[in-house]
Amino acid sequence: MNTMRGRFGSQLGVILASAGSAVGLGNIWRFPMEVGRGGGAAFILIYLCFILLLAMPVMLCEFIIGRSSRSNAIGAFRKLAPGKPWVLTGIMGVLSGFLVLSFYSVVAGWTLHYTALSAAGQILGKDGTDYGAAFNTFVSDPWLPLVYLAVFLLLTHFVVARGIERGIEHYSKLMMPLLLVIIVLLMCFSLTLPGASEGIRFLLDPDLSEVTPDVVLGAMGQAFFSLSVGIGCLITYSSYFSNETRLVRSALNVCAIDTLVAVLSGFIIFPTVFSVGINPDAGPGLVFITLPNVFNMMSGQMPLAGYVFALLFYILLLLAALTSSISMHEICTAFLSEHFSLSRRKAAAIVTAVCFMLGACCSLSFGPWREVTVMGRGFFDLFDFTVTKFLMPLGGISMTLFVGWWLDRRLVEQQLTNGGTLSVRLMRPLLVLIRWVAPIGILIIFWSGLLG
Ligand code: PFF
Repeated sequence: MNTMRGRFGSQLGVILASAGSAVGLGNIWRFPMEVGRGGGAAFILIYLCFILLLAMPVMLCEFIIGRSSRSNAIGAFRKLAPGKPWVLTGIMGVLSGFLVLSFYSVVAGWTLHYTALSAAGQILGKDGTDYGAAFNTFVSDPWLPLVYLAVFLLLTHFVVARGIERGIEHYSKLMMPLLLVIIVLLMCFSLTLPGASEGIRFLLDPDLSEVTPDVVLGAMGQAFFSLSVGIGCLITYSSYFSNETRLVRSALNVCAIDTLVAVLSGFIIFPTVFSVGINPDAGPGLVFITLPNVFNMMSGQMPLAGYVFALLFYILLLLAALTSSISMHEICTAFLSEHFSLSRRKAAAIVTAVCFMLGACCSLSFGPWREVTVMGRGFFDLFDFTVTKFLMPLGGISMTLFVGWWLDRRLVEQQLTNGGTLSVRLMRPLLVLIRWVAPIGILIIFWSGLLG
């Protein structure tokens, strides 16, 4: 059966697809929001440490599990630890895949709506306060967000159904360079705005007095979500890596690209926000309320620039969301198709349909179902909380313990050195990170998440 599995066709494909999974709404929507709330540069410094010390080791563990088993997130644990409870980690991963894709697609659907609005020039020309009202009217509408949710899920479905090389790899290779070009264009533009230097100072000048335990925890959660680790997404992707793929180097490359995009997004958003004198800590509305306001002000001075900037920005957000959503979809599709011997198309159709229904519950929780709560949370918050505060950290701890303490050390070293053909100078420190630093660090987030 393994010979039937897809493979990435090139090393570039491996990097771009994995980086595509990592780079997403987490970088462009969530990262600036957390930086704004966490006081700027101090948050970024802590975040960088957590990427290296906690999230990168989990990524390596996922790569080791995925490539050595060549199976989906659940099959991998069945193969490497038959009959043992480790399989629960994979089950949690696939469940998380469904949940995360459902709520993520809702925000991605909003992005699609804002892309359409900016293409039609309808994002400009409102009064300052109207942007908040327009956003709230849109998200609480019972139908329109569902239409965008469906369209976004169908786009994701289309890519996944085409398979690994012709679908995921092909489209990642098209979308990721485009995304990088748009980011650089937008950054050049925002850095030349009058007053941009205040935004740059906010991003580069750390004020450690702003650091609270809450900021530290926020940075850890952000690092996990942003690198897509802890729920088996990268187990699934790495099961398609070739035997020649260098795991350590690939992990470092993906971390570098993801961090670069997050920081560059900060350099797009904060100089722009500061240049029009808006407070940077606007929270989730930063991208859908504050920025349209900024684009509007910009168009007052330079009409064409405001239009182009807005359109490029939402296209960027949409591309980033799509390269991530296909990786979430793939966790579930790979499992269904391998476990139940379904064709890829059938498995993908089931995932799309289930996620539409779950996503609809999340979407409606902003409107007609606002009062419906489970454990005190609406569906959107519930799914987000369950995945990022509960299942991801738990998965991360379990995977680092599995690779660090349970898997045969020779198998781990064989994977890291490609069967002894590479010398990995960092082997010892990496093993210390995997065995000690990561599981203990993540345990702290998990604990605080439960207590919080
Ligand atoms: N890393 C993605 C982002 O930053 O938007 C989100 C994500 C993708 C989370 C895939 C989990 C996942 F499995």
